[in-house]
Amino acid sequence: MTKTQNMEALGADFAGIDVPNIVTVSIRINGKVVTRAVPSRMLLVHFIREEAGLTGTHVGCDSSSCGVCTVLLDGSTPVKSCTMFAVMAHGRDVKTVESLAVGGTLHPVQQAFWDQHGLQCGYCTPGMMMTALALLERNPNPSEHDIREGLSGNLCRCTGYNNIVKAVQQAAGAMSASSAADPSAADD
Ligand code: FES
Ligand code: FES
Repeated sequence: MTKTQNMEALGADFAGIDVPNIVTVSIRINGKVVTRAVPSRMLLVHFIREEAGLTGTHVGCDSSSCGVCTVLLDGSTPVKSCTMFAVMAHGRDVKTVESLAVGGTLHPVQQAFWDQHGLQCGYCTPGMMMTALALLERNPNPSEHDIREGLSGNLCRCTGYNNIVKAVQQAAGAMSASSAADPSAADD
């Protein structure tokens, strides 16, 4: 996702708005509301890491290129949280990589990255997995081309992308099988 697309996804339009230096921001992160008084120019990624203490979301380029800071906004819209002010997420819902595993059981996307050796140093992995999850929610049965295109805004400097693509293919199969077995799981 480009920076412009990212901003469009957020519906951002601050033209003509006088923003104070310190603002009180409340964001539901992984189902829990976090409220803090923060500088109005604090980026969402710093709110997540430093105010909410969730350091699974990484910072790489800080300029919308690498995708390591990707989180899901209001359900399954992937956004690069380094290109968004925390105040822009006020009252909204954010999901980070920490939301994936439940009760110590890995999410199918996490399990697939593990099984397929889709990570090496792991730095890009949280963003890759959140982008992959959004892709699979949009398109439960993606082709290899769809996967490569869907992950094109996320960079990996370690492994190359073949094992990452295989991981997303495995996750697609596992998630389709579980929603076929339990149709209500598709709405989770
Ligand atoms: S740190 Fe956000 S895209 Fe690189
Ligand atoms: S696993 Fe190291 S950057 Fe992707």
